[in-house]
Amino acid sequence: MTKVIANATNKGGEGKTTMSIMLTEYAALVMNKKVLAIDLDPQANFSKYYLNLEYDHVYKGGKVPPLHPEYCPDEDTDWDGRSSIANIFYGEEVIPYPTSFTNIEILPAHSYKLQEAEAVTKSEVLDKVHLQLKRFVQLDEVKNEYDLIVIDTPPSKGPLTIAGIKACTDMVIPSQMEEDSIDGIYGMMQLWKQETYARPSEQPINLAGILANRVREVSLHKNFFEQLKSLDSTKDFIIDKKIKERVIYGELRVKEDRPKSVFELPSSHVARKECESVCTTIMGRIFNHG
Ligand SMILES: Nc1ncnc2c1ncn2[C@@H]1O[C@H](COP(=O)(O)OP(=O)(O)O)[C@@H](O)[C@H]1O
Ligand SMILES: [Mg+2]
Repeated sequence: MTKVIANATNKGGEGKTTMSIMLTEYAALVMNKKVLAIDLDPQANFSKYYLNLEYDHVYKGGKVPPLHPEYCPDEDTDWDGRSSIANIFYGEEVIPYPTSFTNIEILPAHSYKLQEAEAVTKSEVLDKVHLQLKRFVQLDEVKNEYDLIVIDTPPSKGPLTIAGIKACTDMVIPSQMEEDSIDGIYGMMQLWKQETYARPSEQPINLAGILANRVREVSLHKNFFEQLKSLDSTKDFIIDKKIKERVIYGELRVKEDRPKSVFELPSSHVARKECESVCTTIMGRIFNHG
């Protein structure tokens, strides 16, 4: 069965995109699975990591996907040559892009179209936004093509994030060990429960992990981590291993001629070891579950 992971927290800067990249690459490079990356965030950071996005000349500050390698301007007269996950919210077809990793394809963000997709009335939001991604990931042609789908979401509890959660089988909540971030965890857990109760009982969302990210050797971080490990509401979900604050994670996001994966670093590298350890736990919880 194709698993669908949503990385979600309503706060920015917690590590959603970092985790989306890490889980995508662990599945593709280490587990040799075929992965589809989906970027629901209008900021397009997940897409930017794998593709050379272009500036939107109409919607300033926005990003658009590059021309698709399969696009032939002479033949494809009814296609502008770009494909984004935003297209599904307009009832249009999508064509995933290849990346420099053979096992990874991506449906990138289109800043303006994603933002516009959210601007529907309350009565339309369920059908036009919330359920569209779920319908897409359940298509036979999608399920047959990919072993895993990794969804990166925007830092909000808005319609796009809800769409990501409704479409997923498994959820990951990355969080810094800081006061406001911890509040964010509880907020996301509420959303997880709410969406799980709304589903048929045989299809709950598996909360595959709350992940402590950007952890430093300070008592504040240690105390929050210990608290999450001891509280009844969180102890079953907190991942025992943490991702520390390391410059290398920022450096890996800077693209040179192609992104280099943390899993291509020497096997003794601390960052690679810590990512392997975290991803092994999360993937174990995902693939050994239901
Ligand atoms: N463990 C870490 N150590 C150092 N920098 C990190 C770490 N995790 C994330 N970052 C950096 O913090 C910023 C925000 O992370 P990101 O994953 O983009 O968060 P989000 O998607 O939740 O907004 C990025 O610049 C990223 O490179
Ligand atoms: Mg992000």
